[in-house]
Parts: sequence; C-alpha cells; structure tokens
Amino acid sequence: MPHNVALLGYTQQGFSRIEADFHASALVTSVTYGSCQLPSQFVQGRGGILLNSVQIGTPLVRGVPLLCVSDLTVQYAANASHDPALRQIKLEINNGEIVGILGESGCGKSTLALAILGLLPKGTRVDGSINFRSEDLTALSETALRKIRGAKISLIHQEPGSSLSPVMRVGKQISEVLRAHTKFSDSDRKEQIQAVLSEIGLCDFDRIYNAYPHQLSGGELHRIAIAQALVCGPELLVADEATRSLDVALQLEILHLLREINQKRGSALVFITHDPMLLAGFADRCLVMHAGEVVEDGIINDVLRSQRHRYTRTLRASATEPCHAVQEA
Ligand SMILES: Nc1ncnc2c1ncn2[C@@H]1O[C@H](COP(=O)(O)OP(=O)(O)O)[C@@H](O)[C@H]1O
Ligand SMILES: [Mg+2]
Repeated sequence: MPHNVALLGYTQQGFSRIEADFHASALVTSVTYGSCQLPSQFVQGRGGILLNSVQIGTPLVRGVPLLCVSDLTVQYAANASHDPALRQIKLEINNGEIVGILGESGCGKSTLALAILGLLPKGTRVDGSINFRSEDLTALSETALRKIRGAKISLIHQEPGSSLSPVMRVGKQISEVLRAHTKFSDSDRKEQIQAVLSEIGLCDFDRIYNAYPHQLSGGELHRIAIAQALVCGPELLVADEATRSLDVALQLEILHLLREINQKRGSALVFITHDPMLLAGFADRCLVMHAGEVVEDGIINDVLRSQRHRYTRTLRASATEPCHAVQEA
C-alpha cells in the first residue's frame, strides 16, 4: 500500500517540501535530488519510512510549515516612542530543521523567541501572524497558549540552570511539567523522565532524579533544563542563547545533543545565538537579524560565506574558526 511521505528537499529557492507516494517496501536511508545527495537531517519519513531516492522532476508541493511567522512587528509598550523591537519578520521552519537566528545584542532575538512562545509582556503591540500548525498563536487566549507552551513548543532560556527552583528536587521539577500537560500516572511520569534523562546523556537516574540543583554540576543542570523542555515531546524547541554560559567543549556537546534529538524526534529547532561560528556545521538555515529586521536569510554556509550585508561581514570577521567540531563531536 502506498504511503504518503513528506521529504524536506533543497531547491534553488531554498527549502521546500516534496510530497510523494512511496511503497512501504522502499526502505532506504538517503535522498538524492537532482545531483545533490541530501544530508540525512533533510530526510524525514512519516510512519517510520525513509526512502532512498526522489525522481528528478518530482513535483514540489509547498506543504504547510510547522511554524510560519509572517510580517511580525512587535512594539513594547515601554518603548512606544521608539522603533519597534521587531519589524516585518518572516520565518518558516519545517519538522526536522534547525534554523539559526543570528544577531548582536539588542537586535530583537529574544523578542522573537518570546513572541513565538506567547510570552511578551502585557500591553505589547503585536502585528502580523505566528502560525503554528496553521493556528495563529497571536490570536490565542492565555489559557490556550498555556496548553501549547511546554508541550508542543518549548523554550530553553539564556541561563537554563537558573530557571530551576533551588528548594525542589530536580526530578519533581521535571515531573511538574509532565503533570501540567499529561494525565500520566506517577509511575508513567517517572518512566518518561528516565527515558528523557537517558536521551540527554544523564544515565545515573536515581542520583539525578533525587538531587537538588546545588548538588549537580553546571553541565548537568543545563541538561536538566533541556530535559524539562523536552519531556512532553515538543514539536518545536526554541533555544535562546542556551549555551552562552558554557565553556566551548560543553557548548559543542550540547549542540551535538540538540542536533541528535532533532534528528531522532523529527522536531524543529530555532537556535538563537550571537556567535556565527556556532551555527556552522550545526544549523540548516540561518536568519541574520539587525535592529529588529531580518537582513539575510538562507542556507547556513551561503549566509556565512556571502558577506552580503555589512553586519554579517562584521559578525564573520569577529569570529575566528568554524565550529567543525560539532560535526565530529
Ligand atoms: N520588556 C521590554 N520592554 C521594552 N523594551 C524591551 C523589552 N524587552 C526588550 N526590549 C528592547 O527590545 C530590543 C530587543 O531586545 P531583545 O529582544 O532582548 O534583543 P536580543 O535578544 O537580540 O539581545 C532592545 O532594544 C531592548 O531594549
Ligand atoms: Mg536575548
């Protein structure tokens, strides 16, 4: 019986979704499109089926992206007399993709993250739309947003560890997220937490589950915060400078982990950073922001090489070596 499978494909214009019917027997591991062999992160099967080739000329049908931000303009109430923090932002992301958002401090990266999560302060004026699975998040009530936040879209903060309560065991803190979004029994919650902790490389379950934050290392706390963000199986993860406080080796470890999880779960990741070299070898696409606007948008290596915009040139010049270690980690 044919199965409908969506594949992320590369076209001259950027990324599109290839919709095609394939047979269940076509069990394969990579996709070629034209003369391009697509890296595995662009291959995403539904129903667990991966296919090894897409005929040249397969009709490209633009599918509905997981997240589609259109003409997003954000004006904080406290800054009403200044330029908006975000102006006419456009962003699309599909399942399985990692999109980097790159820009210097104050350009609006966190504002974009907060807007996607529906966490902007009361009184902020938001124009445009943020469609998640075709539902406009800007039109939802706080109650409806709370059901999505942490469950379908999760945020990893700039200082992930600091969002943990110092007086509650970390296992309970992760459990609270599951309790808010599922009807799991106590034992099911514990089982789910054990699975997530092991997925993010924390295998010493009893020690970690029963520890207070001060009993864990910085790297472990970082992973706990990631576990909290992942435990409900979100389709979209937004990481806002999430590795900023870590040393380089730990940063690379966390990037490697995030990419692995992204590929395994087929979820999407918006990775916000001011460091262009973190994105090389990690993100699929990249948006460069400057003063509340997107000034470049494209395939990561093209953006890093293009140096079209003065600001991207400055960012690139300030970076030293590409972060190939992510690929090798
Ligand atoms: N709650 C707020 N009220 C008013 N202005 C804000 C608020 N949060 C951020 N801003 C302003 O919006 C702009 C973008 O900030 P932000 O999104 O935090 O940038 P980034 O994350 O890129 O450093 C900055 O000029 C900042 O001062
Ligand atoms: Mg920020």
